[in-house]
Amino acid sequence: MATTTAEREQWGSQLGFVLAAAGSAIGLGNIWRFPYLAGEGGGGAFVLIYLLCVGLIGMPYLYAELSLGRNSQRNPVGAIKSVTGSGSLWVLVGGFCVLAGFIILSYYSVVAGWAVGYAVKDVIAPSMGFEAFAASPWMVIGLLGVFLLLTFLVVAGGVEEGIERWAKILLPILFVLILLIIFRAVTLEGAMEGLAFYLVPDFDAITFDLVIAALGQAFFTLSLGMGAMITYGSYLPKQEDIALSGTYVVLFNTVIALMAGLMIFPAIFATGADPATGPALVFVVLPEVFAQMPLGGLVSVLFFLLLSIAALTSSISLLEVVVSYFVDEKQWSRQKAVWLIGAAVFLMAIPSALSQGAAGTFSDMSYLFGDGGLFGQNNFLGILDYLIGSAGLAVGAFFLSVFISWVWGADRAADEMEMGGSILSPGLLTAWTFMMRYVIPVVVFGIVMGYAFGIL
Ligand code: TRP
Repeated sequence: MATTTAEREQWGSQLGFVLAAAGSAIGLGNIWRFPYLAGEGGGGAFVLIYLLCVGLIGMPYLYAELSLGRNSQRNPVGAIKSVTGSGSLWVLVGGFCVLAGFIILSYYSVVAGWAVGYAVKDVIAPSMGFEAFAASPWMVIGLLGVFLLLTFLVVAGGVEEGIERWAKILLPILFVLILLIIFRAVTLEGAMEGLAFYLVPDFDAITFDLVIAALGQAFFTLSLGMGAMITYGSYLPKQEDIALSGTYVVLFNTVIALMAGLMIFPAIFATGADPATGPALVFVVLPEVFAQMPLGGLVSVLFFLLLSIAALTSSISLLEVVVSYFVDEKQWSRQKAVWLIGAAVFLMAIPSALSQGAAGTFSDMSYLFGDGGLFGQNNFLGILDYLIGSAGLAVGAFFLSVFISWVWGADRAADEMEMGGSILSPGLLTAWTFMMRYVIPVVVFGIVMGYAFGIL
């Protein structure tokens, strides 16, 4: 298919791309989800398996999404059409990617809005507990609006002037904030016990469920399974080395996740809180921890600012997937796409925003699904996260890996990787095509089955 390289936007530099893609990867997944999963999964044991999943499965699969994107210079739908033509059923997989971006963005922004609210909580709601906070309709909708508006403004600026520029500004700030908080956390009395829990694996804690959860987290944290990296890869100039850039993205993302644990676990253990509290860890347990520690008020503001920044560089990438579809396939202008889709995302997000208590008796959907809920989830936000953000990504990654390896062809993807020169030696590239064909689709199918049988 003809590509309009001359008109299509591109990243300004390799560093710019790496920071933008790392910004997509680094998000609530690193600072909210990874710590609570590690806390539930016995600490070091989860961390070890997670690192293996990221390095052996996530990273090679990331190269594949980037290659398809750069080769086609298109959004996920356009990328698939560039291989199969527009009549193929595979195009539906691209459609799923765009829809998933829209839906994940809607509820992700609600949680991100809470982070923004907590960063300024002393000003807007000083003595409110989390439950009351999440159940105040105007508060959560207002914060959601603020967060989405920031997302729209960045994406409206374009690939280089908006996304890349803001990633270059925000990621260094994020890095410094994490370092400050780690310093405060590890100098607390009793911090060492937290470090030991987090860093020394207890091999008995490794179970099949833990491996499946770690694999799912590897995909979520690297923004894989719904074409975000196809889209970001589509703006990569032909001379860039895909494997090298992708490897940097994985390294940055991993370092930030590990650092998030370094700041959270010492603080939790030093104050005697429970590391295995699940999703409430960051919004309920941490504020209690901060309240007990010297300089806690300041640390709390910095922490939630950090969380908001991390979420922003990720929400940008979710919106960009949808925007790029309308720009490429429907010839909309970027401005029109951002503001129209933005308005739709805001509307779609309202039920999620109200689902944490603000909708009164309608918040808990047991009246529809019974006490067990739908897939164990009792509220709208939880259901979307399970259906699209967890199980959906696994299904998406399965179809995309089969598509790239078998329909487009793993060796064509390898050729694309070699175009800009590759740090991978010919032997490693061959090993990569083998992994893409025979290992990754099978392993990802394992995660899909994990969801199907309700393990997760
Ligand atoms: N990776 C981000 C995080 O860790 C979330 C995210 C952004 C994402 N874009 C994505 C997840 C695309 C899956 C797919 O918070």
